[in-house]
Amino acid sequence: MEYTVDACDRCDSLVESRSRIVNGVGDGSLGVVFVGEAPGADEDEQGEPFVGRSGGILTEKLNDLGVSRDEVRITNSVRCRPPDNRDPHVGELESCRPYLVAEIDTYDPDVVCTLGRVPTTNLVDGVTAMRDVVGDELRTRLGAKERTVVPCYHPAAMLYDRSKEGVIDETLGRVVELARS
Ligand code: URA
Repeated sequence: MEYTVDACDRCDSLVESRSRIVNGVGDGSLGVVFVGEAPGADEDEQGEPFVGRSGGILTEKLNDLGVSRDEVRITNSVRCRPPDNRDPHVGELESCRPYLVAEIDTYDPDVVCTLGRVPTTNLVDGVTAMRDVVGDELRTRLGAKERTVVPCYHPAAMLYDRSKEGVIDETLGRVVELARS
């Protein structure tokens, strides 16, 4: 069953700034849900997560591991584009979290991979810095179940700091390995 949110007006500011609600994509059959931060301009225009520059990196890195976008679930912490690409506010993350948790329950993955600080701190209590947890296999209760969450640097991080690419490759490789095992 496909999980989508077709109408929502919980966040005044995001209702103003979005063109549409951007739902997750992919059937999740590999057993992985990737969670990003929020739709950017490209995602807002096309109605699909991770289709801009960082989406290109994520898609290419998955393809290098023999994985297509269709067999994982790719979604975001909030489904509406924030104004000027600002970070989602805590209240917005809280308003959208029930949708995210319901989506994770629907696809029932072996691994949830959080891409960057925003989804990581949103889903795992007690985390403050990515460097402390990147690549770790964290156990945390999300909705109906305790799940494995593996934090990965956001794909955009390597555009600013090439040294992060190796860690991103290793982390995505581990995520796929966990799902396949
Ligand atoms: N960055 C995100 O976190 N999510 C997207 O959908 C695109 C870029």
